[in-house]
Parts: sequence; structure tokens; C-alpha cells
Amino acid sequence: MRTQVAIIGAGPSGLLLGALLHKAGIANVIVEQRSAEYVLGRIRAGVLEQGTVGLLDQVGVSTRLHREGLVHGGVELCFGGARHRIDLHALTGGKTVTVYGQTEVTRDLMEARAATGLATIYEAEGASLHDFDGSHPQVRFNKDGVTQTLDCEFIAGCDGYHGVSRQSVPAGALQTFERIYPFGWLGVLSETPPVSHELIYSNHERGFALCSMRSMTRSRHYVQCALDDKVERWSDDTFWDELRRRLDPVAAEALVTGPSIEKSIAPLRSFVAEPLRFGRLFLAGDAAHIVPPTGAKGLNLAAADVGYLARALAEHYAEKSDAGIDHYSQRALRRIWRAERFSWWLTSLMHKFPETGAFGQRMQAAELDYLVHSTAAATAMAENYVGLPMEW
Ligand code: APR
Ligand code: PHB
Repeated sequence: MRTQVAIIGAGPSGLLLGALLHKAGIANVIVEQRSAEYVLGRIRAGVLEQGTVGLLDQVGVSTRLHREGLVHGGVELCFGGARHRIDLHALTGGKTVTVYGQTEVTRDLMEARAATGLATIYEAEGASLHDFDGSHPQVRFNKDGVTQTLDCEFIAGCDGYHGVSRQSVPAGALQTFERIYPFGWLGVLSETPPVSHELIYSNHERGFALCSMRSMTRSRHYVQCALDDKVERWSDDTFWDELRRRLDPVAAEALVTGPSIEKSIAPLRSFVAEPLRFGRLFLAGDAAHIVPPTGAKGLNLAAADVGYLARALAEHYAEKSDAGIDHYSQRALRRIWRAERFSWWLTSLMHKFPETGAFGQRMQAAELDYLVHSTAAATAMAENYVGLPMEW
């Protein structure tokens, strides 16, 4: 088998990259270790920046997103028993975010890809990457018990944090940066209407809480929990009681509860690998970096990475220029670090940190007070929340 770009991973990064390359006339094959159903079974965040929506528009995969997505012009911060609105729209000169689940983005990209007839090899086991430091890279994998070889010109490692791509780079060539937070998020999906028509991020003495949504009839809520907590310890009632306690009285009263459809605990981590290019191998998305979910930057950052990468590869093929490829790592990392900073900052501001004590709590209270009473501070938050521009 032969193609121009071999993409490892059919998550949002790999699928969007495949669509952008196809649009630029570049042949690509996706090699994914799981089944499509498994990939669609993962529940992740659901806030899209305008830049992400723009990339989906570019590849013609945004009809349902524009029909069903909820456009939000603000977010609410809850602390000290009251809510305060950050007017994203007014503070950023008219920008908004779109609430539309990552699962739906993935489904739309999968369906569009199937319609183009581009090859996606699901349930490809034991992928290994070869000769990406030379001129003839190869990806080998097992499909239905048969070893297959995919010859290509470039490999895009879009295979997430646990993928094989980053692990294939010689240890000495890679530098990693990491922060593990001392808590997790317990997330619950339910067929209930959202508490408020915008997202509520709550800083409470019992810990952080977030009221998000997937539609006007489906909610996604989170509460900060201990790292070693177990989902089995949280009955639906325990969860709703805890969430209610962490909200202001008006939101607590408005909270509609119901049976959970999904319940899971995720740890919080900040992680960056540098650089993102090794000869003919590029890393993008979660394979290269992780942000804590506060602020929902994960998918948006992945989309920006593949936006840069697709443009760089298009320059290589159409204009015979390697300038974009040569700058990919530096360009993407600059934006990645700024999104890492914002996610770390919002995480630090909103959660209960066991080790910082009463002083840390007062610092958070002072910063929240400043944030909702200073246009400068609110603007800084708003422009990051809606997404920094993709500079070329
Ligand atoms: N071979 C083939 N595929 C692999 C391998 C492998 N060895 N290892 C992992 N994969 C696949 C996974 O099964 C998964 O479908 O790569 C895909 C990676 O997808 P994601 O983890 O969703 O990563 P990415 O596409 O970069 O998406 C980033 O998703 O994880 C969230 O918060 C993150 O929102 C962000 C977005
Ligand atoms: C979500 O809807 O899952 C979500 C929204 C906003 C966040 C994180 C997660 O900051």
C-alpha cells in the first residue's frame, strides 16, 4: 500500500488533518487501532473556538454543527454564592464559542471521510513507524492477522497521549514538560436541561464544579474529586447533591436532576513534548500535548495543530517550498504554550488545592474579584477563552 501522508489515529486530529489534506489534493490513509464505534464512544469536551469551526467549514463538515451547535456569547463564573458573567462577545469585538460535543465533530468527520472514499484502516494492531528520518518512511501494522506495510512520504502522529508515534522518537531527541494536578474531574452526562443557557464555572470551598451542556435537553456536569476516587462511590444522588452544594442558590434551585447516561473520572494534566517534527514525522494533537479540561482547549489546540500542518504540507506539494514544514514545530508550539498557560491558569484559579490552604483561597478570591471588576482582566480571560488567533 502506498500514500502521500500516513496518519496514525482517527481521533479529531487525524480525521481533520485527513480532510484538510484531501481538500488540498494530498492523498492520505488513516491507521487506527480501535473500531469506529469505540472511537465514538469516548466522551470529551464540547466547546469549539471560531477558528476550529472555520477549519470544519473549510472542509465542508459543519452543516450539522451550524444547525445543532449552541452559540454562546458569554460564560458565568460562580463564587461567593453569586454568578458573574464574562461577556465574551463584547470583550472580544464580537467573538463567540460554539457548544457542540467532540463526539459529534468526530462523527461528522468520519461520515464525510467515508463519503470521499479515503482509506481508514480501523482495528489496525501493533502499528510501528520506520525510516522517518530518511526519505521513504513506512508504517507497518497487523490487520486481521496479516502484516501490512504502508509506504508514504510523511507520517502524521495523531494518535493521542498513549500512541506509538511519540514513543517512536529516540528518547534523546525529545524534551517533555509535565504538571500533574492533585485532583480529578468526575463527569456526568444526563438527559436533563442545562442549569443556565451559558456554562457555569464554579469555585467553591468544597471544590470546583462545571455546568455544561450538549443540547437544550442534555447536560454535562463535572465536580472536582480526589485523584484516587472511584466512580462506584458516586451514586447519581450523591453526585447531584454535591453539584448542588457547589452552586449559588439560584442555580442550585434551577438544577434539574435525572439518571446519568455516562459517569467517569478523569485526571488533570498539563503536558508538552518538544519539538513536533522529526524528519518526516510530525506530532499533532494529544500525541504532542495535553491540557487540563478547564477552558476546553484540547480539541481546539489539536485543530490548530493540524491546520498548521495541513498548510505546511500543501506548501510542500503545491509550491515545492519546505518553509511551512520547517516552521511547523515552532509555529504550533508557540500557540500550544499559550493555550497551556491559559488552561493552567484557569485550573489554578477555579480548583481547591489541598496544599495551598487559606492563603491560596484568599488569593483565588482576590483574583476572581479582580477578574469580574476589571475590564482589562476580563478581556484577557475572554480573548483566551474564545481562542487566540492562528498566526502563520
Ligand atoms: N495505532 C493506531 N492508532 C492509535 C494508536 C496506535 N498505536 N494509539 C492510539 N491510537 C488512536 C486512538 O485509538 C485514538 O482514536 O489515536 C486516536 C487519538 O485520538 P485522541 O486521543 O482523541 O487524540 P486527538 O485526535 O489528538 O484529539 C485531541 O481529543 O483527547 C481529546 O482532549 C483531547 O480534545 C482533545 C482531542
Ligand atoms: C464539556 O462540555 O464537557 C466541557 C465544557 C467546558 C470545559 C470543559 C468541558 O471547560
